[in-house]
Amino acid sequence: MKKRYLLAPGPTPVPEAALLSMAYPMMHHRTPQFSAIFAEVKEDLKYLFQTKNDVLILASSGTGAMESAVTNLFSPGDHALVVNSGKFGERWGKICESYKLRTTWLNVEWGKAVAPEAIKDALDKNRDIKGVFIQGNESSTTVSHPVKEVAEIISKREDTLLIVDGITAVGVYDIPMDKWGIDVLITGSQKALMLPPGLAFISLNDKAWKFCDTAKLPRFYFDLKKERKNLKDNTTAYTPATSLIIGLREVLKMIKEEGLPNVFKRNERMAKATRKAMTSLGLNLLAPESPAECATGVYTPEGVDGGKLLKSLRDDFGVTLAGGQDQLKGKILRIAHMGFIDTFDIITAVSSIEMGLRKFGYKVELGKGVAAAQEILLEGY
Ligand SMILES: Cc1ncc(COP(=O)(O)O)c(C=O)c1O
Repeated sequence: MKKRYLLAPGPTPVPEAALLSMAYPMMHHRTPQFSAIFAEVKEDLKYLFQTKNDVLILASSGTGAMESAVTNLFSPGDHALVVNSGKFGERWGKICESYKLRTTWLNVEWGKAVAPEAIKDALDKNRDIKGVFIQGNESSTTVSHPVKEVAEIISKREDTLLIVDGITAVGVYDIPMDKWGIDVLITGSQKALMLPPGLAFISLNDKAWKFCDTAKLPRFYFDLKKERKNLKDNTTAYTPATSLIIGLREVLKMIKEEGLPNVFKRNERMAKATRKAMTSLGLNLLAPESPAECATGVYTPEGVDGGKLLKSLRDDFGVTLAGGQDQLKGKILRIAHMGFIDTFDIITAVSSIEMGLRKFGYKVELGKGVAAAQEILLEGY
């Protein structure tokens, strides 16, 4: 027997209440019963996004919503500014280029956050930039970008939109769409929302909806105006992912019961405890200056192959973490702490890393990282 623990930055564990709700016999989507569920999640999603705008539900992974933002808001040749500080910033750039936007890449060293002044500079030099694309958290490098400051710069410009990939930010930290003036905010189901992959969410403010009126890029399945029209009737344009939406009702109930401020505090505590545990073991953080609350990235020590360590944690101990991509492959571990994650998940992750490091010959005092984490985790009780 091997008990499994999932601590990767998506998919994340799904709570029992949501799992059970999704096991119910199939419900038809064009029925009053399903419409009632839809009406409920429609309102609760506004609470999650901290917005009065509609939050549209798409049947896709998060990337589908990212693509829909590009195709519904822009025309070929429009100038886009992409903050590229990791794999997901790179994804924004690739989507923009695929759809023939004139794409300016604002490259940021991996492990660092973008400086808001760099965005301001780029906008001042290129008055025709129509969209700035950024991540709330760049989960590939476990960095948090200064979205609030960036939104302050962009909200003053009538002809430029701020499009935020909040796939590992919404429900992780306080990112209030309306208060900060974010024009487009996106998330996905398999992160802080504690659901299986398969749903994406996108919300547009009035300024962004105006861009939709003139955008000329082709679109069919991801037609946001069509989805907004259907949303009013508590349905979607095409067959919705009914089981996932039924699960969504459960997780949104959980989030509301805990209250967003408490969810954010819990995530912050988990993140702080994880970082403290790793540094107390003598490991270096990947993003010490602006770490994300969704996951902690940490370099594996000299002489320890990160890929082999990760494999051993998963196959020997049953603990699934994530590694690095591209130049970080084999060099880092990423420990997730968003969604259905609490104190003893962090203890499990930290103690498994200690045991794994010892197994690979790194001198580690067993329990040192766990004790450091416990000091912080206890503050929550
Ligand atoms: C910040 C961020 N953006 C985008 C994505 C891509 O989302 P998906 O894999 O759901 O398409 C991810 C997934 O890990 C992510 O963490």
